[in-house]
Amino acid sequence: MIRVEQAVLAYGGVEVLKGLSASIPSGGVTSVIGANGAGKSTLLSAMSRLAPLRSGRITVGGLDVSTAPSRALARMLAVLRQENHVTLRLTVRELAAFGRFPHSGGRLRAEDLERVEEALGFVSLGALAERRLDELSGGQRQRAFIAMVLAQDTEVLMLDEPLSSLDMRHSVEVMRLICTLADEHGKTVVVVIHDVNLAARCSDSLLALKDGQAVCHGAPEEVVRPEVLREVFDVEADVHRIGGRPFAVPRW
Ligand SMILES: Nc1ncnc2c1ncn2[C@@H]1O[C@H](COP(=O)(O)OP(=O)(O)OP(=O)(O)O)[C@@H](O)[C@H]1O
Ligand SMILES: [Mg+2]
Repeated sequence: MIRVEQAVLAYGGVEVLKGLSASIPSGGVTSVIGANGAGKSTLLSAMSRLAPLRSGRITVGGLDVSTAPSRALARMLAVLRQENHVTLRLTVRELAAFGRFPHSGGRLRAEDLERVEEALGFVSLGALAERRLDELSGGQRQRAFIAMVLAQDTEVLMLDEPLSSLDMRHSVEVMRLICTLADEHGKTVVVVIHDVNLAARCSDSLLALKDGQAVCHGAPEEVVRPEVLREVFDVEADVHRIGGRPFAVPRW
């Protein structure tokens, strides 16, 4: 469903993706892990055409990301970026309605409004729909951005650190929501997440990046291993199994 072939991407002459290849199947949750600066956000930017490749090829749902019409791409994939630059004077509902733009072209129909309310309900922000973004806590604002992406109602969702600034309960809720989207709604979700154990618990596969390349891609137990964690994070860790999933405990 998502095919990244020998992707090379450079910022001002410095290569950040260095011939990265990965194949992500339809449906299910793939977590992208890796150290700060490894290229995770850049990979998401490349997969969603926010940054052009120098060479290589990326297809999402059969669409070539570099040549597909914008509207077709926007109906196929929605992206939550690590940093969002929108005016905080918008209300939560107005922000979520932005997600409908590829469908409505700016004129919201009944179906669009329904999707917006559904998305707000999904992230438990129905009661705060009329609040402006600058009147929310960091975690509530983060959930409002997630609602915008959900409202887009695409087959593929790419979320860059959706758990940042969420408390424990809301982190778990958002991860559960991500699993529901994959398991019950058949979505393909690619999520950048720093918490390797939470990633291992919720994902069908993990894609570990290091220095602009994929170093390991597979089921949680194939990736969350001491050797891989050493290579990817330069960390010594013991890996236990809890609830059938690997759980890494770094050594002090
Ligand atoms: N717009 C840019 N211009 C120049 N260099 C950039 C730009 N964006 C990112 N980089 C560089 O590219 C490399 C990869 O950055 P990227 O944001 O993809 O890392 P990341 O894995 O998402 O890290 P983090 O976990 O900190 O979010 C870093 O060395 C970064 O400094
Ligand atoms: Mg990043």
